[in-house]
This record gives sequence, structure tokens and C-alpha cells, in this order.
Amino acid sequence: MRWDRKDLISIDQLDKEDIDHILRCAEILEPYSGRANKLLLCKGEILYCVFLEPSTRTQGSFVTAMLTLGGDVQIFNPEASSLKKSESRSDTLRTLEQFCDIVVIRDPQSGSVAQYADALDIPVINAGDGAGEHPTQALLDCFTIKRECGRLSNLNVVFMGDLKYGRTVHSLIRALRNYHGNKFYGYSPAGLEMPKELHGSDFMRIENMHDVFDLNPDVIYATRIQKERMLPEERDRFSYRIDNNFIQKLPKHARIMHPFPRVDELDTEIDNDPRVIPFKQIRYGVQTRMALLALMLGHEEEVFSLAK
Ligand code: NCD
Repeated sequence: MRWDRKDLISIDQLDKEDIDHILRCAEILEPYSGRANKLLLCKGEILYCVFLEPSTRTQGSFVTAMLTLGGDVQIFNPEASSLKKSESRSDTLRTLEQFCDIVVIRDPQSGSVAQYADALDIPVINAGDGAGEHPTQALLDCFTIKRECGRLSNLNVVFMGDLKYGRTVHSLIRALRNYHGNKFYGYSPAGLEMPKELHGSDFMRIENMHDVFDLNPDVIYATRIQKERMLPEERDRFSYRIDNNFIQKLPKHARIMHPFPRVDELDTEIDNDPRVIPFKQIRYGVQTRMALLALMLGHEEEVFSLAK
């Protein structure tokens, strides 16, 4: 397979074969993802990170991924830019495009990154568009599930928390629908349910957090309540918590994932339980994003030659 798309905006652009292919590249690159063994695949190429919403993990792992591939990175600082002089985002991005080979964009508005990508000639990766999507998080989540559960099919996956505004959930459920036999459950505080367009015959809402124990869950995917996307009066109405008491009742094979940042929904007292794996997700994000950057910059053959 050859990567033949300009941008990655929605996980819906990828089918099972595409996702498997990216995960295979990530596996090949994994031994090189530890920095001691830096590659030169992207030497001379520049990634621009344009984050118009806060980010720790996504930006950090894209930077590390590009540097580990031997490329260079620029980080846009919105606070010190002409956006402060009322320049349009589109003019800003068309300017930055002159300085780099690929751009990763995060923006508070759902659907906006697709519009920016249409106006740019270089490849664009969506690093989160408001409550819309976060396709690279879904890819690293798939890598994590495959590694930790041994498969991406026939899984019972429980999504918890803010399923309305949580874009990581919106992309992950779409990604996992490429694989057969998966069943999805949603536990969310009232008002934060999964959007209707993501419902399906494979999806069931659960009313009570304790119903999870009857589902034989393989993956519990917890998310924070996205207060910044709510009206001020809505903000303090919702909360839930996964703690020691809760995980004691889960099967041994279950895995608790969380895209982070966590606020108070995932108690730190359970961090050392081997079933709680958010920091592994973060680690696997590096090789997954290395794979994506290498493919999108046309280095597919070089990646596969590393496997020989
Ligand atoms: C998430 C995001 O930005 O969508 N974080 C991430 O990228 N790992 C989750 C969140 O903000 O809650």
C-alpha cells in the first residue's frame, strides 16, 4: 500500500487496511522510537506545530516523533503572533506553509482544520478540532489496544465521561468500527451523551457506572469532563470517579485507558495497577506519530526497508 492522501482530518478517511498499515509501520519504527537510535528518514524536512488550544501530549509527541525521524520542528506561538493583530487564521497558516513541509493543527472549532487543509498545499494533520475529531489519538489508542489486548476485534469497550464533547472518543469509536465483533457501551453523566450520529446497533448506553461489571469489559476508556466547551452554568453539574473500589471489581484482563489530561475522574491511587495504562498510551503515541509522519512525507519504502 502507498499513502496517497494529502491530509489526515478524520479517522473516517482510513479503513481497516489503512489503520493496520499505519500500526504495522509503528511497530517497525518502535525500536527506533527511543531517541538513542535516531533515524534520518525525514532529514531536511520541517514540521510546524500550530496549536490554537492547549496541548501537552499531542504536541510533545509530534515534536519527539519528528526529531526522532531526523526532521526539524517549529512551534507556533499564537500569543506572540499576528493573530494578536487580528490576522485571519487562514492567512497565518498560508504564511507558515511557506516555512515547512507538513503542519499539525489544533483548533477550538469543530470542522475548522478541514477548511484550513483545503486552503493549503502541504499535508495537514488534525490534532483536534474542538469537539470534532482527534484521529491521531485514535491511531495511538488502536496501537495500545492491539498491544495490550492482543486484538482490535471482538472487544467490549466502555466509553466513560464526557462523550458529547470528548473528541478522542468520537474518533476511537469510528476507528474500532472497522473491526468486527466490537461492542460499545457509553456511561456519561446526563447531558454529555454520545452524539446521535455515533449511535448504532453495536452501541448501548449504560445508566449506572456499576453496570460495567456485568459487561465483561476489555477496555474502559475514561475521559475528563470538557468544562471549557460548556456554558458556565453547566460546568459544575457533572462528575464521576474511577478509584480502587471500582477497579477491584473488574476482570484481570480489563484495561483502563485515558487520553489525559485527567482531572479527578481517574484516582492516582490506582496508577500502579497494571491494568491502568494511560502512560503506555502516551509512550505508544511516539511510534504511531512517527509512522504517520513518515508515511505522509513519502518515506514508506524506507520504513519497510528497516523491517528487512
Ligand atoms: C485530549 C484532547 O486534546 O482531545 N488530549 C489528548 O490529546 N491526549 C483529551 C482532552 O483534552 O480531554
